[in-house]
Amino acid sequence: MTEQAPAAYAGKRRVLSGVKPTGDLHLGNYLGALVKFTRMQHEAETFIFVADLHAITEWQDPAKLTAQTREIAAAYLAAGLDPKIATIFPQSAVTEHAELAWIFNCVARVGWLDRMTQFKDKSGKNKEKASVGLYTYPVLQAADILLYKATHVPVGDDQKQHVELTRDIAAKFNHDFDAPGYFPLPEPIHQGAGARIMSLRDASEKMSKSNPSDAARINLTDDADAVAQKIRKAKTDPLPLPETVDELKDRPEAQNLVGIYAALDGRTSAEVLTEFAGEGFGAFKPRLADLAVAKLGPVGTEMRRLMADPAEIDKVLAAGAERARAAAAPTLAEVKKLVGFWGA
Ligand code: TYM
Repeated sequence: MTEQAPAAYAGKRRVLSGVKPTGDLHLGNYLGALVKFTRMQHEAETFIFVADLHAITEWQDPAKLTAQTREIAAAYLAAGLDPKIATIFPQSAVTEHAELAWIFNCVARVGWLDRMTQFKDKSGKNKEKASVGLYTYPVLQAADILLYKATHVPVGDDQKQHVELTRDIAAKFNHDFDAPGYFPLPEPIHQGAGARIMSLRDASEKMSKSNPSDAARINLTDDADAVAQKIRKAKTDPLPLPETVDELKDRPEAQNLVGIYAALDGRTSAEVLTEFAGEGFGAFKPRLADLAVAKLGPVGTEMRRLMADPAEIDKVLAAGAERARAAAAPTLAEVKKLVGFWGA
């Protein structure tokens, strides 16, 4: 792992992250999260879960939630997570997440949560009608991370603020309960190409599951024709691609498509521009479409194969839940003791 373990933490390096089962997974989730999970599983002990407790902060149809959970697990496996190496589990199967979240609710300050931009974005003008869970969502996320004493959290750019809050909660807990260094201060791993993939229709918005236009995103389950068509129709400008990344600054659509190419190909945007400088989108888009189909096609095919065999997915999730519980239980027991609960 290139990133240093957080200073002053003597424990071992651990990677943890998760994705909410709230609908179709898209290219942003794949490049911002799944690709990193797959890489990092070889660099440290890795816990990757399906964030179903987080999913229900907004209404989820109970008849669909289990299938959505399996779909995320299928995506993890299809993207290359190996259940023999990484612990893959459903969040709700490890009840310690919710228990630690309650304790952290009493550590975190209202002022800290008031600053969380995701709550503001998601609740919009209708704050009074948002669930209380949506408001305390980042506290549960801190519990997810710290329950396993994770040191590195691979996420897209939009989750950076939540990992920073996790650091604040860890530091305050360590201080309040006189346990210096007990929880590590985890690092968000959000840098690099793929950290912020934007909508194909409006590059001022991030690519998201909630965008009503399906043309704005590439879903992991899209077939080759759909992927190629969405890239062909992606909004662009009339200029040729420039020679330097700096010149992309005021061209958000061009910047996004070059960034997608770079992330899919494991290169930097500068390297992509060295190859394509002077070319128009008429030449660039077909190359991008070919690359996207070549990289995503096998992932979609494997997801479909796995989803046709729920028993195989369930086996992975059940074994992962057992391993996760074994890792989580000692932390919660120690925390209860530190807090002073009876019988702990
Ligand atoms: P979620 O389900 O919204 O997104 C899953 C992951 O995908 C990343 N992502 C993106 N990356 C690049 N470009 C985009 N357009 C894009 N859209 C989404 C997200 O940053 C995320 O990494 N709160 C988390 C789930 C969670 C979690 C955790 C993550 C719950 N507990 C503990 C890490 C650690 C979420 O809602 O992700």
